[in-house]
Formats: sequence, C-alpha cells, structure tokens
Amino acid sequence: MTATVFSGVQPTGNLHLGNYLGAIRNWVKMQDDYDCIYGIVDMHAITLFQQPAELRAHIREVAAAVIACGVDPQRAILFNQSQVSGHAELAWIFNCVARMGWLSRMTQFKDKAGKHRERASVGLFVYPNLMAADILLYKGTHVPVGEDQKQHLELARDIAQKFNVDYEVDFFPLPEPLILGEATRVMSLKDGGKKMSKSDPAEASRINLADGPDDIARKIRKARTDAEPLPGDPKGLADRAEARNLVGIYAALSDLTVADVCARFDGAQFSSFKQALTDLAVEKLGPISAEFARLRADPGHVESILNRGAEAARQRAEPVLRQVKEIVGFLQA
Ligand code: TRP
Repeated sequence: MTATVFSGVQPTGNLHLGNYLGAIRNWVKMQDDYDCIYGIVDMHAITLFQQPAELRAHIREVAAAVIACGVDPQRAILFNQSQVSGHAELAWIFNCVARMGWLSRMTQFKDKAGKHRERASVGLFVYPNLMAADILLYKGTHVPVGEDQKQHLELARDIAQKFNVDYEVDFFPLPEPLILGEATRVMSLKDGGKKMSKSDPAEASRINLADGPDDIARKIRKARTDAEPLPGDPKGLADRAEARNLVGIYAALSDLTVADVCARFDGAQFSSFKQALTDLAVEKLGPISAEFARLRADPGHVESILNRGAEAARQRAEPVLRQVKEIVGFLQA
C-alpha cells in the first residue's frame, strides 16, 4: 500500500521564516517520498472570524508562498479546502462519530476559546472533526505533526477507529504522525523567548518570505544577541535563547545539525557569524522571495493551479465518499 500524506496550512498573511522552516520546507521534502495532498484550509480559518477580502488574499498568498518554496503542483496535489465539498460532508458524518467528551479535552480549543467558551463558535469546537475529515477523505496514512497538532491527530485516529468499529468495517486507516528530523522552532529576532510571529508589531522580529537580500541582511545584523562568543558545543547554548535561535536557523538552512554548526563556529564572534548567516539566508531565501513576488503579481496563474488541484482532489475523494455513504446507509444515485 502506498503511503498518503495529508497536511493542511491555514491561510494567513505575513508568511515568514518560521512558517518555512517549521512546515513548508517539510512539504517540499515529503513530495519525494510520498503521495502528498496539501490543503490550504480556509474552512478551518473561519472558525475565528476572518474579513472576507483578507481571507481571499491570504489564500492566494499562502498558495504562492508554498509554490515559491518548492511544492510542485505536478507532483503533489495543492488545493483549497472549501473548493472540495467532500471535506464538509465527511466532517458532518464525523460530527456524529466523535463524542462531546473527546472534544472537550482538546487543549487547543481551551486555549483559543479562552475564558469565553460560551461565545466561541461551534466550528471552533468541532475543528478537530474537520481536520480528521481532511485526512481521511483521502485515506491519508501519514500526517506531519508538530507538538501543537499531536492531540488533534490522536483524535483523528479515534474517529477512524470508532467509525470502523461502529459500522463493523475495516475502512479507514489509522493515520500516523510523521516526525521529520530535528524540529526547528524559529524564535523572534528581537526576543529569543517568543516565537517568530506574523502578528508581532516589530517588523524586525521576523524575516518575511517576501524580504529581499537587503531586508534579510539588515534584520540579521540587528538581531538581538549576547556578548559571548559562540560555544563549540550545543550545551553552551542552554541559557542563551537568542544565540540558540540564530544557530538553529543556520543549522536548518544549511541542513546541518546544531552540533555541526557549533563545531564550525566554535569561538566565533557574532559579527562574523551573522555575516555567514546572512550569506546563507540570502542564498537560500533569495530565490524563494523572487519567485514569491513573481507569483503574487500573477494571481490568475495561482488560482488556475488551485483549480486544477481541487479537480484532482475531488477525483481522489469521490470514491471514498461514495463508499462512506454506502457504509453509513445513505441513498445515492
Ligand atoms: N490544524 C492544522 C494547523 O492549524 C491545519 C490542518 C487542517 C491540518 N487540517 C489538517 C494539518 C490536516 C494536518 C492535517 O496547523
């Protein structure tokens, strides 16, 4: 049996280095080894209110970024979730499989709903059921997951299992987490204790995928550091959040381990390390930002790629959904 990967990304603006090293880069790598289906999950996005014009712009923007980073629509299916109605249809069935108790235990719901549980959208509560539908609509077997999505994937497995048991079928696979190499958690360039974020008001805290070589050089030059030279061993980074972040970025961009990078820059001052990091970042990100700019200027082209992706996704989903409806007992033409 071939392994099918499903992964989703929410449409947001201000895509940055953290999005690239944390997720998009893995999408690019996985296309070599798996049958990959990648969704831009706008239906998940609206569990929190989105301005329509912004949502539309962000869907195009994320699609452009993903393609610019190297996801190849010839090899992987890249599509926009709401254009494939099977997601909503299967999610409804899963709303009737998943239990209130399971969803009440989701930590992300508790975090996002905050103190105002009563005022959260119902969609936010059943968000994980839609995510399970995303994966299982294609009988996805593997899902790349960071720490924050592990619990949701567990729930998808529970749903698949309960569906199989309730209907006495061996239909859905139990999707497995895919953990790819050393996790890269990219932190703010201004505060090593905070994640690099699209919503940080300090522009200099992040390297955007749209940044050209001059922006990249300036932001790295101004990045916060400490006064010590770099250690030859990763243990020496233990309580040096900013140094650890820059070394981690270097490691991720060069495909080296943090230990390799420490060995290479043992005793170096930040001035020289930052220069090396700038050269590396410009080499790796320069072509991406150029392609990103080109695609952003041609939204019609990006949309035609998404339309083709949706067509391919529908074809994959159709027989699965048909069988699900048969199993559940719905009438079909
Ligand atoms: N919930 C994921 C996130 O916020 C996005 C997502 C939606 C997803 N559907 C998915 C990820 C299916 C993996 C598989 O990051």
